[in-house]
Amino acid sequence: MILFVDACVRAHSRTKKLAEALLTKLNEETIHISLEDISFAVTDEDYLKKRDDLISKGAFDDDMFALARQFATADTIVIAAPYWDLSFPAKLKQYIEAINVLGVTFEYTSDGFPKGLCKADKLYYVMTAGGNYVPEEFGFSYIKALAQNFYGIKDVEMIKAIGLDIMGADVEAIMDEAFVYVEQNIE
Ligand SMILES: Cc1cc2nc3c(=O)[nH]c(=O)nc-3n(C[C@H](O)[C@H](O)[C@H](O)COP(=O)(O)O)c2cc1C
Repeated sequence: MILFVDACVRAHSRTKKLAEALLTKLNEETIHISLEDISFAVTDEDYLKKRDDLISKGAFDDDMFALARQFATADTIVIAAPYWDLSFPAKLKQYIEAINVLGVTFEYTSDGFPKGLCKADKLYYVMTAGGNYVPEEFGFSYIKALAQNFYGIKDVEMIKAIGLDIMGADVEAIMDEAFVYVEQNIE
């Protein structure tokens, strides 16, 4: 089962189109969650106390952990997120706060290092950007570090199309190049 974590916002999102091309190529049963449709709880002190209490009791079947359980049991993860303000939309960070649950998606070793508890063996990160100044450290690299070091998903790949909003850019040609990449490189 593929879990498609959709952080796209715009009706004609190019990121989403690219992700859909990837999903078509992967051709497996997919669960789609649109982060726009999720009202994430505010991670205030009450929320954190409740969460810690449930974790200490091992009550991982609580609704609070539904997204974390879903993420931990997926075979493949596809995250689609437009490049916003050098990273990604805040809803994706809220999603990460919801799924980073000690005892569900990761645990700590006795010497203080995270150890993954997720089943997936591959995570794709699909991204499009308006410009060509697209450093990876605040977006893709952060997701990659989480995937590899928290969730235990070692194989992480980014699929991207950039420079789409530059004046005079041939948007169709840039997107086509990304679609061809997916067609020729994804199995
Ligand atoms: C709120 C916001 C912030 C953005 N920040 C950046 C940015 O930091 N760098 C950049 O190159 N493009 C930026 N863009 C442009 C988008 O990355 C670009 O239009 C992208 O293709 C949008 O994806 P979509 O078609 O899936 O919505 C931003 C767009 C929005 C709406």
